[in-house]
Amino acid sequence: MRWKAAAAAVVPLLFWTVQSLAETAGLDAFRRPATVPFPAEAPYNREIATLGKMLFFDPRLSGGQNISCSSCHNPSFGWEVPVSKAMGAAGTPIRRHAPTILNAAWITPLFWDGRVTSLEEQAAGPITAPDEMNATFEEITKRLSAVDDYRIWFGRLFPSRGIRKDTVLTALATYQRTIVSGVADFDRWVEGDETAVSDAAKRGFALFTGKANCISCHTGWMFTDNQLHDVGLQSGDLGGGGLVPPNPDQNFRFKTPGLRNIVLRAPYMHDGSLASLEEVIRHYAAGGAAAADRSPDIDSFTLSADDTADLIAFLETLTDTETDVPTPILPAN
Ligand code: HEC
Ligand code: HEC
Repeated sequence: MRWKAAAAAVVPLLFWTVQSLAETAGLDAFRRPATVPFPAEAPYNREIATLGKMLFFDPRLSGGQNISCSSCHNPSFGWEVPVSKAMGAAGTPIRRHAPTILNAAWITPLFWDGRVTSLEEQAAGPITAPDEMNATFEEITKRLSAVDDYRIWFGRLFPSRGIRKDTVLTALATYQRTIVSGVADFDRWVEGDETAVSDAAKRGFALFTGKANCISCHTGWMFTDNQLHDVGLQSGDLGGGGLVPPNPDQNFRFKTPGLRNIVLRAPYMHDGSLASLEEVIRHYAAGGAAAADRSPDIDSFTLSADDTADLIAFLETLTDTETDVPTPILPAN
């Protein structure tokens, strides 16, 4: 029974398909996609996504059974947490701010520094990192195997494999690909409803795509180009330049995050250093932090207080107010 209820709660994969009247406003480039991209080797499967949802919320995936993926990617905060650095299983802060996993199916590469390309590969990282979930796959597969419902469902969905590292990762990735931001007022505007957003938001959109030039990196329906840029923060974190082997050309570059549900996702940036959207806009308008003489990707510009309010009014229209994320009831031992 529990399983059926949870399966029915999986985000529906149908999208707004109405054709638009608003093409003249240049809004066409921001239209939501009609389908979620699933890789051929891991196609959408409702039961696997439901199983993945349980795992995502299940602290049994951490060594001390004290932390789950949702501890740091919480749907209430746009799939982040409202602190600059989340605490891991060891009670120490992680070195970077938790990014959203909203629209994960379209995010590539993954991590702030772009170091992995698939969700399957990504999820192994936090599970085994000592400062994050501090588990081993040996211990969690053993622990999950002791739970009847997990044993039954893994056995049914992955008949020749059962509970293993690769099946756990497939389930988590399949679930994450179903986490899609729902229709927001901005989408209604894109689809031709001129009353869906305020005049202030329309002026803000004009600034976003015009004078403030946010659009040079925050493109398309998700508002990201999925590229790495240096926006002139001063965290000392090398970002894309700090991988193995080091690549100094990418120093201080971080991946552009999408802006869907951005008002729910403070604080901002890879280091969580900017507390509000006002601060973010002030940072960009100044052309990066005053002391950082290295922000090749951004230029300063002047915005009035009204302009800033308009830009924020636009960013607020990207908030999905319709998607409910029921917490799964996890199987008991
Ligand atoms: C203790 C907090 C914490 C936990 C627990 C955690 N994450 Fe994360 N997650 C982070 C941080 C911090 C990053 C960014 C790390 C980086 O870029 O170096 C991240 C990055 C990600 C990303 C990449 C998003 C992007 O935009 O590139 C995904 C996907 C993700 N986590 C999924 C998961 C899954 C699945 C789990 C559970 C298996 C999980 N996380 C557990 C903190 C956490
Ligand atoms: C040169 C590319 C570029 C431009 C131009 C740009 N951004 Fe960004 N944006 C990024 C990158 C890259 C990040 C992540 C930076 C980091 O954490 O170091 C980011 C982060 C953000 C964040 C925080 C997202 C989060 O999840 O924490 C917001 C909000 C934002 N940008 C809004 C804007 C606005 C508004 C403008 C225009 C005033 C703008 N950006 C201009 C590339 C850009």
